[in-house]
Amino acid sequence: MEYLMGIDVGTTGVKIVIIDRDGKVIGTSIVEYPLITPKPGWAEQNPVDWWDATIKCIKKILKKTGIKGKEIKGIGLTGQMHGSVFLNSNYNVIYPAILWCDQRTAKECEEINEIVGQDRIFEITCNPVLTGFQAPKILWLRKNQPDIYKNVRKILLPKDYIRFCLTGDFATDVSDASGTSLFDVKNRKWSEEILEKLNIEIDLLPKVYEGTEITGYIKKDIAKITGLSEKTPVVAGGGDQASGGVGNGIVEEGLISVTIGTSGVVFAHSEKVIVDPKGRLHTFCHAVPGKWHLMGVMLSAGGSFRWLRDNLCEEEKKQAKKRKIDPYEIMTEKAKDIPIGCEGLIFLPYLTGERCPYPDPNAKGVFFGLSLKHTKSHLIRSVMEGITFGLKDSIEIMKEINLPIGEKFIASGGGGKSSFWCQMMADIFGKNIIRLECQEGAPFGAAILASVGVGIYKDVKSACKKILKEKDVFKFDINNFKKYEKFYGIYKELYTKLKDSFDKLSKIL
Ligand code: XUL
Repeated sequence: MEYLMGIDVGTTGVKIVIIDRDGKVIGTSIVEYPLITPKPGWAEQNPVDWWDATIKCIKKILKKTGIKGKEIKGIGLTGQMHGSVFLNSNYNVIYPAILWCDQRTAKECEEINEIVGQDRIFEITCNPVLTGFQAPKILWLRKNQPDIYKNVRKILLPKDYIRFCLTGDFATDVSDASGTSLFDVKNRKWSEEILEKLNIEIDLLPKVYEGTEITGYIKKDIAKITGLSEKTPVVAGGGDQASGGVGNGIVEEGLISVTIGTSGVVFAHSEKVIVDPKGRLHTFCHAVPGKWHLMGVMLSAGGSFRWLRDNLCEEEKKQAKKRKIDPYEIMTEKAKDIPIGCEGLIFLPYLTGERCPYPDPNAKGVFFGLSLKHTKSHLIRSVMEGITFGLKDSIEIMKEINLPIGEKFIASGGGGKSSFWCQMMADIFGKNIIRLECQEGAPFGAAILASVGVGIYKDVKSACKKILKEKDVFKFDINNFKKYEKFYGIYKELYTKLKDSFDKLSKIL
């Protein structure tokens, strides 16, 4: 038999999916690793932890499915975007990876704007330079750890470090490269102009490929360790969002997905380069060759819900243990008892600052409108509503810039698993929400990219057409939509009103 493997180097762990030629999921496997936060606003991981977890995860899934390494016809890589892996001349990791949600680089972003010119960087990369992106992290290391920086010989994105470990090649793909602030997104290549102005040698960066292109083959020693077969091709793949876009079938104009994971993402396909002139959304190359995508990324979507679970929902956790269900299910049951708008309680989900639509590391979480009548159930529902309002912000911008938007959205991620949350999304967005049969997202998309790369399908669109199937639909209710609109109006005003106070608070902290 012939199978494809997708490997996702995520923030909480490595996840691997194996599919057959028809896209049927044969098995999945996860191995977790820690997130290190040495200072407030910092987020790091040890790339060697990713690699150890990847080896374990590959062995685990091959054992679990009984599939032989030589039956895997192709591997696609995906992973958390924007992180920086710094290697020395022996290709050893010499500094912890600085992750996508790390907020330490506000000064370096300003510096890049001064050196390259704020308009010019926007023109070339189609995006403003943001704290989580890779370029400011490189400048940060150069300034703050000069002794380490002088030994840096390669700078990689997370999934591309795993690629190097698997195949020995230094390669990346256009979608992940788009999130570095060093990439010419229109022309799908590293920007020599930006690299020169920032004094970063191009040799430090990997070679760039389209998502379905083969970048290398499994090394002999790695085949022995993992059980994979020597010479199995590995395709470029995509950043987790672009690859997740493929897994959700967002490969044609008008299609949009909404994913609630740790981050919250609204993702739209685009046939051409469309840019929000105010830079509130990202315009990146798609993992679909020759196409682009737009997306709004909230930093703490599911992250806010997890914070609530871990800090205020001990009781729900205990109950969940007894009933052998997920604590989120109990939390959602409680939210159902509360009316739309939570009797005036509104939550701003900026627990780790925000990226879209407000690129602001100083933004903070807020419960607004709290009164004596409010209970924990109100808090739970308001967090869910606040996250969904945050996603709606990106959809509103997509409308404003005339991006073609169809009548239905695809829901995915942890949030998409909850029917209650899907209905809430439908009612808040005023669009029908569809769930697909396969909810495996990014690693599933990476396996689809591999299926095209090894020639099973002629292109990504026909692969998705053959593989993806709709499971259920949540139709929006116009009356609920109208009720939500009133609260969304207030939600929208709050950030602007609080911005100065967020900045003042950050200065004190
Ligand atoms: C996308 C982004 C996140 C990370 C982690 O721009 O920052 O989605 O890739 O998942």
